[in-house]
Amino acid sequence: MNNPKISIVVAVGENREIGKENDLIWDIPEDRKRFRDITRGHVVIWGRKTFESVLGYIGKAPPGRTNIIVTRDKNYKYEECIVAHSLEEALRVAREKESEEIFIGGGGQIYKTVIPQVDRLYLTIVHGKFDSDTFFPDYLGFKNVIEPEEEHESNGYKYTWVTLEK
Ligand SMILES: NC(=O)c1ccc[n+]([C@@H]2O[C@H](COP(=O)([O-])OP(=O)(O)OC[C@H]3O[C@@H](n4cnc5c(N)ncnc54)[C@H](OP(=O)(O)O)[C@@H]3O)[C@@H](O)[C@H]2O)c1
Repeated sequence: MNNPKISIVVAVGENREIGKENDLIWDIPEDRKRFRDITRGHVVIWGRKTFESVLGYIGKAPPGRTNIIVTRDKNYKYEECIVAHSLEEALRVAREKESEEIFIGGGGQIYKTVIPQVDRLYLTIVHGKFDSDTFFPDYLGFKNVIEPEEEHESNGYKYTWVTLEK
């Protein structure tokens, strides 16, 4: 059995805000590119709501990676994607396909369930406070800095990239 790292690439506000009305709360193309670059070629596990939000942007499942959608709907299907009916099932299938690093694509419900099993966080901390209905869980347990903080500014947003492990 493969033993890949489990990782999250996520953008959070200073109060751990991540989304509102099943959408992102900022528009930072450079940060979306970071997500694509880090996850390319790997397995990504998506909550059904986040997956549908991504579909709204790009009109198809994210190409160049293996997408696993987690839903309780036994009839759910999406072309070229794997559907799992629990996070455990999604992780089991992901481990069969991935030896290096499995990525959790969100959103709030999935992050909350998976965070005890997560090894690495690729964080974008977007500076400011944002109106949000969905939040990332507490990540104080991730104390080891793997890649130090890098400050960035684009499209009118200031943000910090940092990679942490437990
Ligand atoms: N800032 C960021 O980097 C970032 C990243 C990702 C997402 N987001 C934001 O997060 C928000 C969406 O998050 P969300 O919490 O509303 O939804 P979500 O976690 O994306 O999806 C929730 C859905 O996943 C399925 N699900 C969850 N737990 C499950 C389990 N244990 N077993 C089987 N199925 C399960 C259910 O689907 P069914 O209802 O089909 O059963 C549930 O309705 C959006 O605003 C999005 O933009 C932000």
